Order: sequence, then C-alpha cells, then structure tokens
Amino acid sequence: MRDDVMGSAMENYFKKNDNTLIRVFINKSEEPEMYPSLFFRSYKNMLKYEKIALKNSKGKVLDLGCGAGCHSLYLQNKGFDVTAVEVSKKSASVAVAQGLKNVIKEDWRNLSLKKFDTVLVLMNGMGLAESPAELQLMLRKLKSFLSKTGSILIDSTDVTYAKADWPMLDSEYFGKVQFELKYKGKTQCFPWLFVDFETAVKTAKSVKLNVEVLERARNGHFLLRLSKMS
Ligand SMILES: C[S@@+](CC[C@H](N)C(=O)[O-])C[C@H]1O[C@@H](n2cnc3c(N)ncnc32)[C@H](O)[C@@H]1O
Repeated sequence: MRDDVMGSAMENYFKKNDNTLIRVFINKSEEPEMYPSLFFRSYKNMLKYEKIALKNSKGKVLDLGCGAGCHSLYLQNKGFDVTAVEVSKKSASVAVAQGLKNVIKEDWRNLSLKKFDTVLVLMNGMGLAESPAELQLMLRKLKSFLSKTGSILIDSTDVTYAKADWPMLDSEYFGKVQFELKYKGKTQCFPWLFVDFETAVKTAKSVKLNVEVLERARNGHFLLRLSKMS
C-alpha cells in the first residue's frame, strides 16, 4: 500500500507531539520543508486568505480535504454545522480525535451530497483535481453539492514564476506536478495541480459558476468564491 506520509505525520504530531519535518519535492526539485504542526495551525497563525475564507463561510459547511481539520474545528467551535471530508484514514482519525463531529473518510470523487451553503477547499484546494480536465469535473460535482445560494471557496497558486526551477514532467499543463514527501524513511508520491488564474476562472465559468476574486496575492496565490449562476 502507498505510504500515507502526511497522515502519519499528522498522527505522530497529534499523539506524540512529534514534529519531525517532512521533506518536500516537486517534480524532483527540493522545496522548503514542512512541519506537521502546520496542519494544526490556530486561527491566529492562519494566512490572510484562510481568514477571508472563514469569514465568508456561512450556513451548512463542507470542508473538502480537511487534513487534521483546522478550518472545520474553527467553524464548528463557532457553532457552524460542519461536515469534513478526508481521503486519508489517518488524517480523518486525527480530525475525529480533535473533536470534529462529522467526518467522512472518502475520496471526493465518490461523494454525492446536497444543500451545502459553503464548500471549503483550502491550501491550494484545486490540487484535489489531477488535471485541468478533472478540475472541470470537480467543480461541476461541487456545484451539485451547493444549496441554491451556496458557494465554493477554493484557492490555488499560479506557479508560472516557478517554471524555471521545476523540471516540467508533464507537457500537457505546467501546473500539473508530482509531489514527493519524505518522512522518517518513507516516501509518498502523488499528483497535484496548481492552476493559473485565467485557467481557474475559465474552468469555473465553463460549468456555469459565477466567479468572485476574494484575494489575489503577488506570489500568484488566489482565493475564489464560486456560486451558481441564477
Ligand atoms: C494540502 S492538504 C490540506 C489540508 C487542510 N485543508 C489544511 O488546510 O490544513 C490536502 C488534504 O486533502 C486530502 N486529499 C487529497 N486528495 C483527496 C481526495 N481525492 N479526496 C479527499 N481528500 C483528499 C489529503 O489527504 C490532505 O489531507
């Protein structure tokens, strides 16, 4: 079975306060390492775009790819009705152990849900799709999870600036990359998608979603609010 490095790191940090760093490679090029404690960040330590997303959350909330559950926990503690989805068994168990009441251990591809007022997909959330074509499928599916006035709050990063550093492994789209996480002698490899702003907007509009830009930072990162066209 594929090593679940991220899940193991979250579990070890939660159970033993073990903050052994995770080495990160994108297309074989080494990136700044990551500490498991990152997934347990408090509201105070969140980035501006996360605070904007949380402030714009309303009603019944779905948190897709919740990890250890930092965003869900914040909202649940504020009285929101939150459902969190996480594909990793270990990460999902940590989210439950942290006190999240509704956690679904599942791949978003297998979900069929209804009537959420907010769907959060944060920390380069568009990466939960593996290609621009799958991003279109994912946005169409997430749209079907929304209530009439609901919205999807999702982010990504235009990595055009990093193109020179990352050997391009995929000729289809430069933001389609391979992540490799190394932790305690184990390696986890998985595909990820970084989407440029224009592609993100075009893809959302192609499935008839309205696009509002909630934040666009100088480093290429952006947060969008997508809602049903009336
Ligand atoms: C970059 S982490 C972000 C975690 C959390 N949202 C945060 O901001 O701390 C992405 C999370 O999505 C989960 N994930 C990846 N693919 C998924 C899928 N197909 N369905 C559900 N969750 C997925 C991973 O296991 C991981 O915990």
